[in-house]
Amino acid sequence: MPITNDGAVGESKKMIIEIKDVSKIYRLGDQNVLALKHVNLKVEEGRFMAIAGSSGSGKSTLLNIMGCIDTPSKGQVIINGRDVSGQAPDELAEIRARTIGFVFQTFNLLPVLSAEENVEYPLLQMPEISKEERRERVRTYLGIVGLGKYADHRPNQLSGGQRQRVAIARALVTNSRVVLADEPTANLDRKTGAGILDLMQKINVERGTTFVFSTHDRRVMERADTQVRMEDGRIMKLGLKLSDGSWKFVLDQSKGEEGPEINPEA
Ligand SMILES: Nc1ncnc2c1ncn2[C@@H]1O[C@H](COP(=O)(O)OP(=O)(O)O)[C@@H](O)[C@H]1O
Ligand SMILES: [Mg+2]
Repeated sequence: MPITNDGAVGESKKMIIEIKDVSKIYRLGDQNVLALKHVNLKVEEGRFMAIAGSSGSGKSTLLNIMGCIDTPSKGQVIINGRDVSGQAPDELAEIRARTIGFVFQTFNLLPVLSAEENVEYPLLQMPEISKEERRERVRTYLGIVGLGKYADHRPNQLSGGQRQRVAIARALVTNSRVVLADEPTANLDRKTGAGILDLMQKINVERGTTFVFSTHDRRVMERADTQVRMEDGRIMKLGLKLSDGSWKFVLDQSKGEEGPEINPEA
């Protein structure tokens, strides 16, 4: 099957997010910070994608732009076939609420709400969903993340791993097609972090939910089926995992224009 240099395999699968020639400039006092430089990326539906790079490489900026939390200075963002670049903030919020779920490094749960109420929260902005359906969905998703028995617990009565599970349930409860997770395991010990990745992968495989997660940890990156390596606001490498577990790099700027698969000596 043809693999293009932005990671799209064939033509059959749907692109849930497309980033086209996106640059982001932050103004900091009288300085301009170029956080993203001409980034192109397609996220095929069903992928389990890692965005890897050191601190300051642009991972959060890219995820925030993919999730319509932030807007690009230049370029286009296409969500589920729809160009969102020129949309008004309330329309962006609507697209975001119905398509995309977010998970953060520090969980970002509301401390005064129980696990159940935290998961229910995004549904309160959707008037078409009845109270009964809300209850049903909250119960379903708390069950999926294995926290059915902790519905009444507040965040400070839960461990870090359990809090992140609540955050995952909250990201999924609106029937999101894609979950964007910014360093979801960075505040967890290795074993708990691995458990969160197991859960995300299970949801990816069983429900077909697309995941894009950032990390600065190579072990976390290795769990993905697609890896995007960022350096200084640019995508330097884009790799797809082959069935034998090895990586095929379809883009590799670190070795010049030609990727390793083109080089006969590689
Ligand atoms: N709101 C902001 N204002 C100014 N500069 C920012 C802002 N957000 C990020 N940056 C800068 O943009 C670059 C990329 O940051 P970020 O996307 O947070 O990287 P990462 O998530 O990989 O650590 C960094 O140089 C950072 O300092
Ligand atoms: Mg970051």
